[in-house]
Amino acid sequence: MKKQILTAPGGESYPILTGSGLINTCGQEISSIVKPCRVMIISDTNVAPLYLEIVRKSLADAGFSVNTHVVSAGEGSKSVAVFGALLESFAEAKMTRTDLAVALGGGVIGDLTGFAAGCYLRGIRFVQMPTTLLSAVDASVGGKTAVNLQHGKNLAGLFHQPIGVYCDVDTLQTLTPHEMADGAAEAIKTGILGNPDLFSIYENGNPLSELEDVISHAVAYKSMIVTEDPEEHGVRKLLNLGHTPAHAIERMSNFVISHGHAVAIGLAMMTRAAVKRGYLESDEGTRILHTIARNNLPVVCPYQAKEMAEIAAIDKKAAASQITVILPEKIGRCRMEKIAISELEALFADGLEGQA
Ligand code: GLY
Repeated sequence: MKKQILTAPGGESYPILTGSGLINTCGQEISSIVKPCRVMIISDTNVAPLYLEIVRKSLADAGFSVNTHVVSAGEGSKSVAVFGALLESFAEAKMTRTDLAVALGGGVIGDLTGFAAGCYLRGIRFVQMPTTLLSAVDASVGGKTAVNLQHGKNLAGLFHQPIGVYCDVDTLQTLTPHEMADGAAEAIKTGILGNPDLFSIYENGNPLSELEDVISHAVAYKSMIVTEDPEEHGVRKLLNLGHTPAHAIERMSNFVISHGHAVAIGLAMMTRAAVKRGYLESDEGTRILHTIARNNLPVVCPYQAKEMAEIAAIDKKAAASQITVILPEKIGRCRMEKIAISELEALFADGLEGQA
């Protein structure tokens, strides 16, 4: 079991536990940071049949009074309608300011639960129990919460830090190769940003047999960034490497291309653009592209630069007429560049140039 600590805004910190068996012992673990209270576990139709009863029992045995709320699996549940229904469910269960929400699932469940917990009664506490690699290495840590609007991804949300993150690595064993690859994309992103050891697990190693190390490397880097810049005024923008094209790709595919796969294409695009613009040596660029492909992820974008730029212009990261884009300089270091929205098409075009 690995225990890491993230220092949240205001100097509060929360534990991030990664290890085997946490699904069974979560009640004990959570009761060490919260007195028994009413709990609402939020999960989805894929995860609930596997783990909801185990988590419910563990929390009940630890003295919590447990309610559950299950939503349909998939990105469609990150909607205003599902968010509203969850708030009503909190109210129906008579949840108070001292009660607790538990997000049991992947990024959709974590984002939805965190947003509802942040809004209900102007904010109640929540914990994350990620059951996907993508959520374990990125989304469950750092307090970003959101739902999608018709106009784009994550356009309604707030920063609301969890009070604990509990990742049982055994739950990752049931993931499909496609879901594992989704998580690999975010882990490779973190490696490119600031952790060459993590990158090398994906470049040469066997990540599936080193999941605890993968997650703790990613959590260590992300905790450092979030501690320094919890609300993304500066250095946290680095974590958006590849995400500006990725969000456009997800939307243009009608979410058929999953988040991790879209991030992989976005990483490949920013890598090619960085080489073309002279920021990144071409052999390092080649290593990044090979590493993405080695982990069953796409490096070729099916869309044109112009249409992607139009969609990305409404991305929430666009402030007024400018947007911050992230470009690799070497494996383990990236640069932030503020560009005009009107320059996005040329950047994407550089990212598409030379793709197979
Ligand atoms: N997923 C990027 C962040 O949490 O800032």
